[in-house]
Amino acid sequence: MKGISEDKGTILTCTNNFSGRTISIVSFSTEEQYKDGFGPFTPGFQNVEYGDIESLKVAINEDTIAFLIEPIQGEAGIIIPPDGYLKEAFELCKKHNVLFIADEIQSGLGRSGKLFAFEYDNIRPDVVIIGKALSGGCYPVSAVLSDREVLGVFNPGDHGSTFGGNPLGAAVARESLKVLVEEKLIENSFELGNYFRAELNEIPSKHVKLIRGKGLFIGVELHEEAGGARRFCEALAERGILCKETHTHVIRFAPPLVIKKEQIDEALVKIKEVLLMP
Ligand SMILES: Cc1ncc(COP(=O)(O)O)c(C=O)c1O
Repeated sequence: MKGISEDKGTILTCTNNFSGRTISIVSFSTEEQYKDGFGPFTPGFQNVEYGDIESLKVAINEDTIAFLIEPIQGEAGIIIPPDGYLKEAFELCKKHNVLFIADEIQSGLGRSGKLFAFEYDNIRPDVVIIGKALSGGCYPVSAVLSDREVLGVFNPGDHGSTFGGNPLGAAVARESLKVLVEEKLIENSFELGNYFRAELNEIPSKHVKLIRGKGLFIGVELHEEAGGARRFCEALAERGILCKETHTHVIRFAPPLVIKKEQIDEALVKIKEVLLMP
């Protein structure tokens, strides 16, 4: 126990974060639209600049309880922090006895080409939040992972929700994790992600500013003059390819982890057609 006085602790979070839509979570959002009309908000959060270790160094202190971070920011437009940042941030947290919490709800469970995106920095967070792919997308189930030392502070009855601890959810999650491993979907994500990004880079589109990503978690950032990613996503939808614009100028590709090379090739023909639009 760190011994911070009751109601005095702070949780550090990051600019451009997205961890959901509850009141406490939107309390630290830097996106006005997520907060508009939902106040009053929960105090106790402070944002630091995502990917900037100096910003974390300045903010962290004896009242810091935890640092919550998405190892890759999905909603913000597939933003990847500089190499080594997560490791430095983790070590800084250790030095100050601060819990490092990784929100892997989007980036986790194979999406980034590793089981967890934080593995690229060889760290082991104190707490990991997972969801979405935990059920293969077919059942609402999410989880918080940690050691007993951390989660053991909860006693039976301290916390709960109507559908929390759902046995069917747990069974679906176990089966999904088995499929992820047995069907080598993490390896597939890593290999085909590299292939997909390399092929996207070959498309001579005047609209594309930058292609970034890890595994099958890919963002195509467009120049402002392209007029936003939405029209490209709509043109792709008309051709049978679903993707979503994030932060106005980024097309986010997050194909199913079971995708095959031939299907990526098929999609690339259409993506090329759309990215070469005027
Ligand atoms: C990175 C991240 N964290 C948290 C959440 C919120 O999860 P939930 O909808 O289960 O509250 C989301 C939802 O999209 C997310 O993308």
